[in-house]
Amino acid sequence: MSTKSRVIQGSAVLAALLALTDAACSGPGTMTSAAGPGAHRISLLSVGMFAIAAFVFLVVVCFLAYGLFHRRRDADTQEPNLEDHGGTRMVLLGGIAFPIVVLITLFVITLVALQAQANEDTGSHAFTINVIAHRWWWEFQYPTQGIDTANEVHIPTGQPVLMEVTSTDVIHSFWVPRLQRKVDAIPGRTNEVTLQADTDGTYLGECSEFCGLQHAHMRFNVIAESADAFNAWVADQQKAAPEPTGDALQGQQVFLGSSCVYCHSITGTNASGTVGPNLTHVASRTTLASGTIPNTPDELAAWIENPQSIKPGTQMPASGLTSTQLRQLVAYLETLS
Ligand code: CUA
Repeated sequence: MSTKSRVIQGSAVLAALLALTDAACSGPGTMTSAAGPGAHRISLLSVGMFAIAAFVFLVVVCFLAYGLFHRRRDADTQEPNLEDHGGTRMVLLGGIAFPIVVLITLFVITLVALQAQANEDTGSHAFTINVIAHRWWWEFQYPTQGIDTANEVHIPTGQPVLMEVTSTDVIHSFWVPRLQRKVDAIPGRTNEVTLQADTDGTYLGECSEFCGLQHAHMRFNVIAESADAFNAWVADQQKAAPEPTGDALQGQQVFLGSSCVYCHSITGTNASGTVGPNLTHVASRTTLASGTIPNTPDELAAWIENPQSIKPGTQMPASGLTSTQLRQLVAYLETLS
């Protein structure tokens, strides 16, 4: 094969790899499609490190190629002689000086990124959200606004919000790839991380530390919206649950008369359990069971009837309700928007 066709073939392979990388590096759960200052910084650092590594690789390959072809021509006529070929200088420059410069550069850019991250977390924030990881769902408490919600966190676009992350059971990890680095949720400890989105949108979050059977079903949504939309959401969430009537009233009695109340809270009722998500505004959320199923009346009924069939291992037991009770309970929960 001629050198020219080798070059063409090499270029085609490189182009295919780049296209593949591009396809793999976009999407809702990809940190390279950064949408917030934290993720931008991580993305920049990754690209910088990749560029340096690629440069080092190229230099090594060039020297290797030179060595191979050069040696092949004069191998018959003379023995290799390090002195004659400038071997000592090569060892000093390529083996010691060059790696030191590269490693120091990597060290410095990492330190700069770490410092920027620390400044961000200790800087000023619009407000604080307490993030509490449970097996297998996320609780979001807004102490300033007096809101307690689950698996869906609203933030105002363009404003830094401080997330104080902890866990009630095992170690989880809080991660919104397009917005920020991951941070461990550790029982008995609080770790801080700043969340900020550049533009309105829904950003996928996930648990990034294996925490048991339903680790993969521990997703959440970060909804970044305009200050007006955010304030409207806050006002809605602060409202008490409406007084139920008809089927919904029957459903409320089913709820309050069953074991639901030991694990769930609904503001304005006697239900004040903290094991499972607060249900005061459950109908306003887009998913159930931490991103496992969409929040529709049918899915909700199926979930209450037999949670283990949808999310094996979940702490929620089957309800054992009659079909009428189940219908009434769903009618009640659907009023909690
Ligand atoms: Cu929680 Cu993995």
